[in-house]
Amino acid sequence: MKIKVPTGMRDLLGDDLKNFRDLESAWKNSAEQENFSEIITPILEEKSLFVRSVGEFSDIVSKEMFECEDLVLRPEGTAPVMRCVLEKNLPVPQKFFYYAPFFRKERPQKGRFRQFYQYGIEILGENSPQAEIETLKMIQTFYGKLNVKFRFEVNYIPAEAELKSYESSLAIFYKDNEGQLSTNAKEKLAKGSILRILDSKEDKTLNESAPQILNFLSEKEKEEWNLILKLLTTLNISFKINPALVRGLDYYQGFVFEVVDESNTLGSQNALGGGGRYNKLSTQLESKEPISAFGFGGGVERLLYQVDFPAEAKKTKVGFICTESSEVETLCRLKDKLQVEGLIVDICFDFNLGFKKMFKRLDRMNFDYAVIIGKNEIDNNFYKIKNLATGVEVTILEAYGLISSLKILG
Ligand code: HAM
Repeated sequence: MKIKVPTGMRDLLGDDLKNFRDLESAWKNSAEQENFSEIITPILEEKSLFVRSVGEFSDIVSKEMFECEDLVLRPEGTAPVMRCVLEKNLPVPQKFFYYAPFFRKERPQKGRFRQFYQYGIEILGENSPQAEIETLKMIQTFYGKLNVKFRFEVNYIPAEAELKSYESSLAIFYKDNEGQLSTNAKEKLAKGSILRILDSKEDKTLNESAPQILNFLSEKEKEEWNLILKLLTTLNISFKINPALVRGLDYYQGFVFEVVDESNTLGSQNALGGGGRYNKLSTQLESKEPISAFGFGGGVERLLYQVDFPAEAKKTKVGFICTESSEVETLCRLKDKLQVEGLIVDICFDFNLGFKKMFKRLDRMNFDYAVIIGKNEIDNNFYKIKNLATGVEVTILEAYGLISSLKILG
């Protein structure tokens, strides 16, 4: 049986890789302009990091992590960044950005992979709505430049006491309507993982009449929620309030949001990204001092369905064809000269292939010119150059120089 790329994973090459890299530089530029510094954390982390932060009963931790002894392939980037800041005892505030691979053992479909990449930011040690506003504004500007069609959906997850009372009222509602719940939701209800039922697409209709989280906010939380909405409106950042948006990760507390695709290119996996305030996370990870924090992560693959970066100006490609193995040194010298001029140069070292096949090979690899160098050419100080697109071939004296010759050939 042939060996294939693992399920839900992809090779990246050609135009796909170019778009992937272009998105990386666009994200880096945009984050650096906002004073974020890059962070790279390990691909593997201790399993307990995600059990404590993302939550034991979340889908991610309960069924989607690839495990290797007591380590896991990281399913997300927020907990590792907080782990790093706490471990190194870094002073806050800190503003980090990343562009990195993550792993979730999900059933693959369009826009859902087992290895996927996220562009993300994390702001640690900032407790004013400044972080919320700055982040949404940055995303709006970033997507604006890329002509991405999207909308923000927003909600607010209250602190422990208010959340408990909301969950009790939700539990009563779901028990009263148990007959209408999906099998998955029934399991979640039995496990006491009540909030996760709100995420469930299968239970969308029932969820529309469920008790609403925003009615359970404390006075202080309501004030903060209203202030954020007011500031967003002032800055012309439009949003839709989605009271069922509770995010699938347990560390959130406060303002949460998702960026939803509006180009209709994504099907059911239409969340371009998501994030929110996670003031709980540092204490979940046993920090002595709580660190307030806010962040965002967006899916690279999902964005690239909508975005195509312009092609780069093509560099001239020259392939040397040599029939004499003894002339390798001359070839390497000429190659260096052309590369200094910014050309892409390669040498066909397959001395037995014959000219016709060599030309074909260079043409397939998008070379513009072939430079032929045999014993006769070396002895008499000239080259043969062929324009592979037009088929025109000329013989030029070495003294005239290769670069000038290529210019004449056009
Ligand atoms: P998340 O909502 O789990 O949040 O993921 C963020 C984004 O990553 C999703 O909206 C989606 O675009 C992309 N994504 C997630 N899973 C997959 C997948 N299997 N295949 C392709 N794309 C996927 C987080 O991960 C949080 N750490 C975000 C955050 C940062 N919150 C605060 N700071």
